[in-house]
This record gives sequence, C-alpha cells and structure tokens, in this order.
Amino acid sequence: MVTPWEVKGEIDYDKLIDRFGTERVEESLLKRIQAVAGELHPLLTRGIFYSHRDMDWILDEYKRGNRFFLYTGRGPSSQVHVGHMLPWVFTKWLQDVMDVRLYFQITDDEKFLFRDFDRLAESTRVGYENVLDIIALGFDPERTRVIMDSKLIRRMYPLALRVARRITFSTVKAVFGFTPSSNVGEIFYTSIQAVPCFLESVRKGRNVPCLIPCGIDQDPHFRIARDVAPQLGYFKPALIHNKLVPSLRGMQAKMSASDPTSAIFVTDEAETAREHVMDAMTGGGATVEEHRKYGGKPEICPVYHYYAYFFEWDDDYLKEIYATCRSGSRLCGDCKAELADKVVSFLDRHQEKREEARDRVQEFMLTEEELPEHEPA
Ligand code: TRP
Repeated sequence: MVTPWEVKGEIDYDKLIDRFGTERVEESLLKRIQAVAGELHPLLTRGIFYSHRDMDWILDEYKRGNRFFLYTGRGPSSQVHVGHMLPWVFTKWLQDVMDVRLYFQITDDEKFLFRDFDRLAESTRVGYENVLDIIALGFDPERTRVIMDSKLIRRMYPLALRVARRITFSTVKAVFGFTPSSNVGEIFYTSIQAVPCFLESVRKGRNVPCLIPCGIDQDPHFRIARDVAPQLGYFKPALIHNKLVPSLRGMQAKMSASDPTSAIFVTDEAETAREHVMDAMTGGGATVEEHRKYGGKPEICPVYHYYAYFFEWDDDYLKEIYATCRSGSRLCGDCKAELADKVVSFLDRHQEKREEARDRVQEFMLTEEELPEHEPA
C-alpha cells in the first residue's frame, strides 16, 4: 500500500508504474538527459530515479530554449533523515547542470493538519530546522526560493482556490482514501501542494514548464494537479520519481522517522548513527562459515543499498562490493563498519554546514514581495 502519508509492506515498484500510469526511465531517456546535461547522476544510472511523467517534453522545451523550473518539497514532521535527502541531492544536481530555478515547499500546514503536531507553531519550527539541511546541501540562493506554507499563504491562496474549485471530494476520496472522519483541512490540502507547480508562471506572467523530482509516493498529489492544470491555462507539471529508501531494519519497510533505528538522521550523534548501521539487517549468511561458503545477497541487503543510494558514487568500487559480497569474501561486520565510517564523516561535514546555514535562512525564503498580489486576469 502506498499513499503520500502511509507506505506499508514491501513495495513492488514495477507495479506502481502500472497502477499510477507513469513511464519507466528507459535507456533512451538517459541518453537524452546526458546529451543535455553533459553527464548522468548515479541515482539515474542505478535505477533509483526510475519513473517519470513528461520528461521528454521537458527536454524538448529545454532544447528549444524554454527553460523549466524545479519544484520539490518537505513535510516537516521530524528532523531529516538521509532518505528524505535523496530527491534533494538529485534536485541540486539538476539545478547545477541545467542552470534552473527551484521552489522548495515546506508544508508546515500539512503536518499540522495530518496531526503530526498539536500546534502549528511546532510544525513551523521543525520546518525552519529542516531548511538548514536544505541550505547545507549547497543550493544556490540566487536560484532557490523556499516556501514556508503558513507564512506565504496570502500569496498562495488565490491559486489554491482556483485549484480547489476544480477538485471534487469524490476525487480526493478515491485518490487518497479519505473517509467521513477525515478533517476538512486534509481534504483541501492537495490544492496547496499544487500551488508551486504554477507559481513561476504566475510570477513571470507567462507559462513556464515545471519539473518535480519526488518520491513515487507523492505522485497522487500531482496526478490531480496535472488534471487541473489545463483548465487553469497552465502546463501540466512533469515529474521524475525515486524509489523510497529501505529501512536499515530490512527491505520490507522504508526508512521511517517514526522508527529511529530504521534511519540515519542527519542530526544524529556520530555514535548513534554508527550503532544504527552496525545493528542493521544484512543479506549475509547466518554464520560467518555459511557466508564464506554461500556468499551474501546484496539485492536484499539494506547496507548494500545504502552504499548504492548515498555513500558510494564510484561505480567500479560499488561493483567490487557487490561481487565480493556475492562470493562471500566480504563479511557483513566489515562492510557495516566501512559504511559507518562513511556515514560518520558525511554527518560531520553536513552538521558543520548545517550550523553555518543558521545565519542564511532569510536569504532563501520566498517573500510575499516577490510574488504579484493578484492573479493575472
Ligand atoms: N507532502 C510532502 C511530504 O510530506 C511535502 C511536499 C510538498 C513535496 N510539495 C512537494 C514533496 C513536492 C515532493 C515534491 O513530504
């Protein structure tokens, strides 16, 4: 089961492509991206960004000189873990190689409405904490605007209303599984998540293509936004979807903020993170003897996936990890210890940049003055 708010059980990613009606990221698309970008990110070549909507159109427009803008977001329910960062790392790469603007939406309203917090102020506070992690990733402040929903709502509201008027309750019920006991804010919320898709068109006073890198679980929101877009006179937003990051506890679950041992939080102390890695499930044999004899199963090993998702961009070395695991010569304890070292040095660097970001938050926040007061007629 996959909705934006709940992911249960092992995910069949091929099935999601069929069920959601998206396109697979094929070799031919990778070639086109490479031709335009000059390089390919490992998250593309490794099949982690694996599904899309209208990427071909985005590239066609780009080649004709019609630049798109990027849109992604964060629901600030907790501190950030490395799973949350995956689409952001990719978004940063896209911003750099394509030289485009980015809107980054922080949905403090969402996390209040969906009862992650009892007070909106708490949700907003966590939102600003999360902005530090976004800045620490190195986004360019000239081309990056962060939207704190509750702070910018005055300028977003006219667009949200135009979207909301075109979405029925039966649609959101079918798409998100709402029930009669869902609160009315939850029912309205998807209209808010649609707003940034059209914000650059409003700001510029002409239609600008939008590309959204996001977890595949967010696709339902944007199916609705795409249905509404032509009725509002805007382009449908294009999407590129990543697979969710597996839990350290095993591949059947995704990394989750509600189970801290399943995740590596970017604010974790080095020793906590090291423990979580050392306690992780692996695809190794039951005993060292068995492992040496039969080898391990990297396909079902969260530790191997961590190398592939975050900590090892060198393809040759990743292949070596895979091969030596399969052959049984690479032992799980050593493999985890090496990953833990990589994690700790990443956290060191990230936390330093995160602290430096504290003085720079305002540089990144979209303000009301940057947006027109009224919708174009
Ligand atoms: N709903 C998302 C979450 O809970 C946050 C979000 C808002 C988002 N806009 C987005 C995520 C655009 C991806 C792309 O995390």
